Amino acid sequence: MPNPLADELQTDRRARPSALVIFGASGDLTRRKLVPSLMGLAQDGLLPPGFAVVGFARRDWSQAEFRRRLEEGVEAHGREGAGDAFAEWQGRFSYFEGDYDDPESYRKLAVHLDEVDQRQGTQGNRIFYLATPPAAYQTILGHLHESGLSTETDTGPAGGTFARVIVEKPFGKDLDTAQALNAQVLAGFNEHQVFRIDHYLGKETVQNILALRFANSIFEPLWNHHYIDHVQITVAESIGIEGRGGYFDNAGIIRDMIQNHLLQVLTLVAMEPPVSSSGDSIRDEKVKVLRAIRSLTPEKVAASTVRGRYTAGWSRGEAVPGYLDEEDVAADSTTETYAAVKLYVDNWRWAGTPFFLRSGKRLPRRVTEIAIHFHRPPHLLYGDIHRSKLHRNVLLLRVQPDEGVSLRFGSKVPGPHFQIRDVRMDFSYGSEFGSRSADAYERLLFDAMLGDPTLFARRDEVEEAWRIVDSIVEGWCASEGRPADYEAGTWGPEEAEELLGPAREWRRP
Ligand SMILES: NC(=O)c1ccc[n+]([C@@H]2O[C@H](COP(=O)([O-])OP(=O)(O)OC[C@H]3O[C@@H](n4cnc5c(N)ncnc54)[C@H](OP(=O)(O)O)[C@@H]3O)[C@@H](O)[C@H]2O)c1
Repeated sequence: MPNPLADELQTDRRARPSALVIFGASGDLTRRKLVPSLMGLAQDGLLPPGFAVVGFARRDWSQAEFRRRLEEGVEAHGREGAGDAFAEWQGRFSYFEGDYDDPESYRKLAVHLDEVDQRQGTQGNRIFYLATPPAAYQTILGHLHESGLSTETDTGPAGGTFARVIVEKPFGKDLDTAQALNAQVLAGFNEHQVFRIDHYLGKETVQNILALRFANSIFEPLWNHHYIDHVQITVAESIGIEGRGGYFDNAGIIRDMIQNHLLQVLTLVAMEPPVSSSGDSIRDEKVKVLRAIRSLTPEKVAASTVRGRYTAGWSRGEAVPGYLDEEDVAADSTTETYAAVKLYVDNWRWAGTPFFLRSGKRLPRRVTEIAIHFHRPPHLLYGDIHRSKLHRNVLLLRVQPDEGVSLRFGSKVPGPHFQIRDVRMDFSYGSEFGSRSADAYERLLFDAMLGDPTLFARRDEVEEAWRIVDSIVEGWCASEGRPADYEAGTWGPEEAEELLGPAREWRRP
């Protein structure tokens, strides 16, 4: 089935030849996401003819072993037909065994890349993808800089060679570590060479927030505190920590989800119209939103946030353990698996309109949505219907699953009485466009090949988001409390209901 994204990209944008070097190429991300997504681009004819992948890792693998594992990943996680694309492209994949900490490895890598240029026509252009655990990022970045691999000869669209780096999340674990990592990245690369991944920005429906707001005229006049009562942004997962206890117990949901995905979505919902569609115009407006978010003192954190932790319960019909009984979780852990946060964007447009963000594990469903709740009508003509009985109009942007947009409004129930009931106007991506949405990594890898930074987080965005999250974490540490319990398979702790205040309730998607 034709992919409209591919049609649009093919007509408008073409990637120049390049070699993609993946550090940590023996890992889960490469096998499950990166290579299947590259094959998706190949299927859509979006990979340039001069393209190659060099997988860098420490383990002693032969070329055949490397390709065999990638092939398995593509078969298991790629689109239909991705295996055929891999069969065609596998000659472009080479394995490079090296030590992240050894300068000699980078000298040999440079020689290998020169050979790849000769064999595959990649023309000296390099994209480095950091897909190791974050502990290795600084070492790799330092060596890329020292070896000269981060140097580009021209940044123009046509001539010279480019060098880019893609950095996976998490980008730091607080403001200090994010600033240190930014300093390390920018010691070797200029900002235009840096692509900090937040895969939420690669999702079609997240990009559609901008289309909905700025390619239509009916929504924007209502998009402010005069008409909007509050906004709910939900990223719910039904899974637990899936063997990632070592990482998750040090991060918690606030660092793992809210610092990046939810705050990024908030900026797209709340930003002012950009002066152009350029990457920096859009990111300028997003960062202004983060700067306008009211700081939370430790005292305010208690009134503006709720943190929870799941206890044993049920998930999709199966009994599941509580968080403290998961593997690699400290017995005295105070890490939250659920967080709800009330934020105010202190600017002219949003004065007094709360944004409620919530994310959690072991909730009843996997769902991501943005619900814009409008004010109730100021006056009702119908005396027997009390104003508070009418629901608010809600514009719902569904990011996953069942991607689409719907509008809830009141309608008269047919019959002699004047009764009003909620109805829905619905747009669904699947039925409207009849094709699958491209995987977020496809879009992001392609944009990095094009050098388009729009869907990547800029240095100041990442740091501003950490400023907000650090103030919440400090408040939690100061309170010395522990997260409230919620049973696995429920919508989080009861305390979260109170966060919304009177006459508002969380959606139960
Ligand atoms: N997996 C996902 O779905 C996912 C999603 C979002 C973000 N990420 C991020 O993407 C990155 C890679 O994730 P992943 O799941 O692929 O990681 P991974 O499987 O744990 O590690 C990738 C590779 O890095 C190397 N490695 C492991 N520990 C290392 C260390 N201490 N120092 C240097 N190299 C080390 C290993 O290769 P060798 O031992 O062969 O060198 C390993 O195969 C991480 O930063 C992760 O946070 C992953």
